[in-house]
Amino acid sequence: MRGKHGPESSPHPPAATLPATRRGFLAAVGAGSFAAGSLFALPNIVRAENRAEKLRMAVIGCGGRGGGNLDAVLGEQVVAMCDVNGKTLAGALAKAPGAKGFNDYRRLYESLKPSEYDAVVVSTTEHTHAFATLPALRDKKHVYCEKPLTHNVREARVVTEAAKKAGVATQMGTQIHAEANYRRVVELVKGGAIGKVSEVHCWVGRAWGLQSPEDAKKYGDIIAVQDRPVGSTPIPDGLDWDLWLGPAPERPFHEAYWPGPKWYRWWDFGSGTMSDLGSHWIDLPFWALDLDAPKTVEAFGPPPHPELAPASMHVKYEYGARGDRAPLSLTWYQGKDKPQAWEEGTIPRWDSGCLFVGTQGSLLADYGRHLLLFGPDVRDFKRPAESIPPSLGHHAEWLHACKTGAPTTCPFSYSGPLTEANHLGNVAYRSGKKLEWDAAAMKIPNAPEAEKFLTREYRKGWEFDRIA
Ligand SMILES: NC(=O)c1ccc[n+]([C@@H]2O[C@H](COP(=O)([O-])OP(=O)(O)OC[C@H]3O[C@@H](n4cnc5c(N)ncnc54)[C@H](O)[C@@H]3O)[C@@H](O)[C@H]2O)c1
Repeated sequence: MRGKHGPESSPHPPAATLPATRRGFLAAVGAGSFAAGSLFALPNIVRAENRAEKLRMAVIGCGGRGGGNLDAVLGEQVVAMCDVNGKTLAGALAKAPGAKGFNDYRRLYESLKPSEYDAVVVSTTEHTHAFATLPALRDKKHVYCEKPLTHNVREARVVTEAAKKAGVATQMGTQIHAEANYRRVVELVKGGAIGKVSEVHCWVGRAWGLQSPEDAKKYGDIIAVQDRPVGSTPIPDGLDWDLWLGPAPERPFHEAYWPGPKWYRWWDFGSGTMSDLGSHWIDLPFWALDLDAPKTVEAFGPPPHPELAPASMHVKYEYGARGDRAPLSLTWYQGKDKPQAWEEGTIPRWDSGCLFVGTQGSLLADYGRHLLLFGPDVRDFKRPAESIPPSLGHHAEWLHACKTGAPTTCPFSYSGPLTEANHLGNVAYRSGKKLEWDAAAMKIPNAPEAEKFLTREYRKGWEFDRIA
């Protein structure tokens, strides 16, 4: 987890909740009576059992989130590390004596023979994830990659297909997926506790991105920026800005982009809040309702800016019937935008949450707690037995999978389509069109002009087609 601005910090203590009537829900929130997380805290079985057989790891991106990911694999043998910031690299190398250091992942892959490494952890900026991940998949090596898996839809499709072909252990860095609360919510939804689900609403309170300076202040944004800055500021000591830019179009360094999470809002480097936090929050309905490619996607927000993602917007996805599941709509809200039930106060006004609306009731969840909201006619609800086994831990699950061939819970076959769906929200927003999505062909038949947002412009010498 990151610190103060950590997108993934759980805003509330974990608390499982009991069925409540709409009237009673507020009492039920306060009365959460057991800490779900504590029941499932397992020791790190992987490290304890397999010390003798260490994986030979390469770690690409060692600062920010990468620092936490590096710590999670230090029990293995880290053989190579890469960071475009010399200072960060030096700090990381001090933790794993004997590892080779690189500032360019292309050199790392040139230098490491496939016989010299087993697995790679990627925690760079989004616009380089696919570039740092694909060579390892081509070498048939295991990969843990931070969310969002890639910068755009096309890259997600290519990485997902490469992972399938490689047949290795993959995991996207959505660690909330490993916790107990999401498991209990998935069991309730899949078990039919609220009947057939026809609507899902996911919202996050974070308002980062393009907005007025007044709103940036009011909503605690980390920076107020309305346009590409004029001029430049000095490149920080140790940072190789040209390598940091990598496949993105050239521009002079400015502190408005660096370090993370400032770059998240710039389309050249990140994908805004939609794909960043959508990776964690839309993960829940994706899992609970077996979602995949949406039929249509439509976004609502301020006029799109060519370079900056918005602080506030909402996006509506429509899904057709799947098996015995009803068609449904899923709406994403970020920043000031909120679901109607939240605005009207008919559900608790959690800062961020996911509301499942079913034929027999509703279920409200966030990272660490959930609440069933039943009408007065539901009197004797019985919670289903727990059926989804606890995770070893998000990283430990992947390490275990690398060593044993066991499955992970967020392999690229799952997190690739999740990433595509999130990016499509941005495509709809940037094109201003309701999109009809032909997932198989990766086309938007009703608005082909929007297809340019499925990919991006690559800097000369860094064309994606060279490695796709
Ligand atoms: N799962 C989570 O809880 C979580 C939390 C925060 C960030 N993230 C994700 O982690 C990734 C990194 O985000 P961050 O906020 O830590 O960013 P950051 O900019 O703070 O850190 C990125 C690190 O990678 C290095 N780096 C950047 N480009 C590189 C390249 N081309 N080659 C090698 N090293 C490079 C940077 O120098 C830095 O050390 C993003 O995808 C972000 O969405 C996930």
